[in-house]
Parts: sequence; structure tokens; C-alpha cells
Amino acid sequence: MPKVLTAALLAATILSVGSARAEEISIALGSVGRDVDEMRGQLDAFQKATGHTVKIVTMPASTTDQFGQYRLWLSAGNKDVDVYRTDVIWAPQLAANLVDLTDAMKDVVGQHLPAVIQSQTVEGKLVAMPLFADAPALYYRKDLLEKHGREVPKTWAELTETAKVVQDAERQGGNAQMNGFVFQGAAYEGLTCDALEWIASNGGGQIVSPEGEITINNGKAAAALDLAKGWVGTIAPQGVLGYMEEESRGVWQTGNAVFMRNWPYAYPLSAADDSPVKGKFDAVPLPAGEGGQSAACLGGWNLAVSQYSEHQDVAIELVKFLTSAESQKSRALGTARLPTIPSLYEDPEIAEKQPLVAKWKTVFENATPRPSAPTKAKYNEVSQQFWTAVNKTLAGQGDAATNLQDLERQLRRLKRNAW
Ligand code: GLC
Repeated sequence: MPKVLTAALLAATILSVGSARAEEISIALGSVGRDVDEMRGQLDAFQKATGHTVKIVTMPASTTDQFGQYRLWLSAGNKDVDVYRTDVIWAPQLAANLVDLTDAMKDVVGQHLPAVIQSQTVEGKLVAMPLFADAPALYYRKDLLEKHGREVPKTWAELTETAKVVQDAERQGGNAQMNGFVFQGAAYEGLTCDALEWIASNGGGQIVSPEGEITINNGKAAAALDLAKGWVGTIAPQGVLGYMEEESRGVWQTGNAVFMRNWPYAYPLSAADDSPVKGKFDAVPLPAGEGGQSAACLGGWNLAVSQYSEHQDVAIELVKFLTSAESQKSRALGTARLPTIPSLYEDPEIAEKQPLVAKWKTVFENATPRPSAPTKAKYNEVSQQFWTAVNKTLAGQGDAATNLQDLERQLRRLKRNAW
């Protein structure tokens, strides 16, 4: 595997040194956890090997805010950003402004899981290459469950009960800051992920089916949201309605939550030497709903080259470098980012240093995609209407059944005859 990178690097080195045309390019990326630090390290390696310099344009942590900014820049034909780090759900919406990578990546594309490449292919155009995949985990405090004689919950109902029992006992014992459960409850894309997991695992299906049918207004979906509504102000702090990934991790990592729903990046951070929960936690797949199965939302990030870039060749070279097996391995080791190259899940070094990654292959392969393919360019609005309905329900503004009914009406208006 490293051979591929070495060859790419060599070719790149010869090209740039040979033609003595060192260029400066830029990459836009949002940062969660250690993403920016890690990217800087990999960019430095690229610079060293090729002579090109790469500047980071730091974006807000919220994927929703990033999307808004990217859309503005791309529709204005911005030449200042060459490479964009893109969310797995954006391909159909941004495709028209991104370079087709099919030819440039033809020798390496086969290393990646076909479904991921498929998700980044829009009408035959490969619009982005996978950097890493994402699939969430339920983080839990081993020490606290043991102390209070509780098992790791297998269903959301069990989680609800266990979180309450442990939280209350800890509070009575003088630990006033303790919360049962933290998750992503703010009105943004992250809530679409969390709520889709509650609903899909409860047998409530999708927001929009793969065939484009609006399927969200059903009793099982409403029941899942009603259960989640009951968490706010009981096992979850009221403030969870404003939490994204890092706010949840903040509460969890200071030791003030029994359970947390989050992505794998939180694992090595929680296990770090300076972390108060080091050695006290573990992670398992999310609980099942009444439907009997667990559902994990499929996330992940990719790299795309702007059509307005004046450095497309170097930008493509960089994308190849950062999405290679060697870079993916280093990302898995450093920040537990899930590779999209299946063979890396057999890598003994990754299995030893980041056991969560090795264990997460099936969770990632069975993860539930958000309906960005069937809703095409309208996905962001669909998701926005969904997370708004969910956030309102959690906040007690209208009950789940009524809010889902309204949501269905809004989605029908948005769809009209076709997506
Ligand atoms: C993670 C996922 C991404 C998702 C986002 C929501 O970054 O990788 O796909 O959209 O979380 O907050």
C-alpha cells in the first residue's frame, strides 16, 4: 500500500522539482477535535515532498455553517480556495462547481469501498475522494456502571433508565454536575444524524426513502422522538438543545456524563493523558430501538477540487496524497478517523493503537446514509426542515406526531413533483 503513495510522491517530486514551479494552494476545512493539527502535519509532509506550499483556510466547526460558506464561495467562482474538505452528503449539491476526478484517480479509486466512491459520484462524475468515513458510537463510563451495578444498555429504553439511575445516584453522592446522556441536539446537520438513528433503530425508516418517497410521518418515528423529548431536562441538560459534537465532548470529557453519542474522533481525545475520563470509559454501537436493531448514521469527509482553482494539477496531487492508504493510516492512528480503504481494517498497528477503528468496520459498512442521493440538490433544505422539526419537538414546541405531520406537508411542498 505505501508503495502507491511513494510512487505518487516520487512522481510529484520529479514534476515539481523538474519544472521548478512551486505553487501555493489552499485547502478549506472545518475543524472538530484535532482535525486541523493533524491536517497541518500531513500538509507539511506534502510540502516537503513536492515543494508546493499549502495554506489552511479554517472553517467553523458546524458542517451546516461550512456548507453555507462553501456554497457562497463556489457560486461566486472564488479562486482563493483550491481544495475543499466536503461532507459525505454534499456531493449532489456541489457537483456542478467541482472538478471531475474520474481520470485523475482511476488507478487508486479501486482501493476504496465502492459504496463510498458511489456516494461521491454524481451522474458519472467523481466529485470528491474519501478522506475518512464516520459512524457513531455510544461512549459509556465503565467505572460508573460498575459502581452502580448496571449493564451497558442494549436499547434506548434501557439507556433512558440506566442514565437516570446512575445520574441521580451520583448527584445524591455529591456529584451535582453529573448528566445521564449528552448528544447533538442543536438545530443543525448533526441533529439530523442523531434523530435519524433514533428513528431508524425504532423501525421508523427514513426521512425520504431511496425511491424519493417522503416516509417520515409515521408512528414509530414519532415514538422515537417522544422518547428523546423525555431526555431533555431529565437525563440530558436543557443546554443539549444547543450542543454540537464538541459541546457534548466537553461535558463528557470533563467527567460529567454517564453516556455520550459521538463519532470516533472523541475516542483518542477521551483516552489522552490529560483527559479526566482516561481509563474509565469504553464505546459500543448505539442502542437498538423497539425495532430491535441499532442504526448508525453514515458520516464522513472527502476532498474536492474547485472548478475555479487556478492550480488544479497541484490540487489534484494533494487530494491523491491525502486520500492515499498511507495518509488514511496515519489519520486512523492519530485521530481514529475511519479508513475507507477496507484493507486498513486488517492493519495490526491500527488494531493495536486504535482498537475502536478495527472494531468499527461493520458499523461503518452497515451505517444508514442520509437521503442526500434521492433528494439531490434539495438535501440541505430537507435536512433543515427535519432538524427544525426535531429540535422543536425536543424543546417541547408541539408534540412529535403533529410536528412530523407538518414536516411531511413542508417536504411535499419542497418536492412538488420531483426532487
Ligand atoms: C460528522 C460527520 C458528518 C456529519 C456531521 C454532523 O462530522 O462525519 O458526515 O454531517 O458530523 O455534525
